[in-house]
Amino acid sequence: MRDPISTRLIEAFYRSAAKPLLFRADPERVHDRFTAVGRVLASTGLTRRLTRALFRYDDPILATDVAGVHFENPVGLAAGFDKNAQLWNILPDVGFGFAELGSITGKPCEGNPKPRLWRMPEREALQVYYGLKNDGAEAIAARLRGVRSRMPLGISAAKTNSAETSDPDAAISDYCAVIDACRDIAGYYTINISCPNAFGGQPFTDPALLDRLLAAVDARAVRQPVFVKLSPDLDDTQQDAVLEVLGGHRVQGIVCTNLTKDYRRVGIEDAQVPGRGGISGRVVQQVAERQLARMWQRTQGKYALIGVGGIFTAEDAYRKIRLGASLVQLITGMVYRGPQVIGQINRGLAALLRRDGFKSVAEAVGVGT
Ligand SMILES: Cc1cc2nc3c(=O)[nH]c(=O)nc-3n(C[C@H](O)[C@H](O)[C@H](O)COP(=O)(O)O)c2cc1C
Repeated sequence: MRDPISTRLIEAFYRSAAKPLLFRADPERVHDRFTAVGRVLASTGLTRRLTRALFRYDDPILATDVAGVHFENPVGLAAGFDKNAQLWNILPDVGFGFAELGSITGKPCEGNPKPRLWRMPEREALQVYYGLKNDGAEAIAARLRGVRSRMPLGISAAKTNSAETSDPDAAISDYCAVIDACRDIAGYYTINISCPNAFGGQPFTDPALLDRLLAAVDARAVRQPVFVKLSPDLDDTQQDAVLEVLGGHRVQGIVCTNLTKDYRRVGIEDAQVPGRGGISGRVVQQVAERQLARMWQRTQGKYALIGVGGIFTAEDAYRKIRLGASLVQLITGMVYRGPQVIGQINRGLAALLRRDGFKSVAEAVGVGT
């Protein structure tokens, strides 16, 4: 299905005018500017309606229920773009079906020293070393309390990036502080155990520690579904160990995947700052899909799978769905292709589902490529 002329014009403008200009500026400053523009657009009904008219694509075939939550479409903003929950009231107009906010930590966190975000344009990837910069659970929850979101807001919880949370008990309390603060806000929770850039690494990939963390989350008895976000760098044995632990807890979904730090595996020899930060986009696509497909084969619908990593087109999103994802998310595709890509992915996805005789997203989940 061909995009309408307005979408093609925005795409051409982004590719030939906006992106060349934006890509000359510091990536973090551009990210901050986009957030500022988004906040302005979110601030009035008129600007929201205009944004919606230009960007959003709606189609009933895209509506889907996952883990008891209703999504108008399966395309979400991945964690890390709206770190401080400032864009929740414009993202549905840009076309998203949901957004994962944060990652949010128990305490406010400055993140790692700058620079901490680099582009890899020839690879359509980003090198990310933010280190969980965010305003902290209390401030973000206060910002969101009482708002009426037009789409589910996922709360991505992580442990504060500091020496104090190196102690497992302190780290677990930190995750739980996020859950407690966001009780009335979350559409779902994601427990992010795969930040590649935080003090102390990723301790909760250790099965015994993950078991303790999830027991503490279970004890919160939240009514919203809980997902766990994994690193694409886990080997098969580590993935199986994680799955075994998840089986003993109230976890309903798995987010595959976060950024990769295994530069060698994905063939990166030219990182701008070698070894620093995780890599997104085209670079992570294959490894994320490998994990997604494996998780589907192992679990066959027991968990909702959320496919993330290297989605640039409707075909990319559709492939993840056919590999087992009930929902998909992206950031890097939007940075490289422009904000109209969300509507383009949804429009293309609807066409691909119909082409193959599916009546819903759910029917296509896990059918194979
Ligand atoms: C700038 C940036 C910041 C990110 N920050 C987080 C984060 O705070 N928490 C998290 O779970 N994932 C974070 N991620 C990872 C993304 O959520 C996603 O898993 C990854 O980028 C792969 O998707 P993509 O290729 O569509 O970008 C971040 C990614 C980017 C590009």
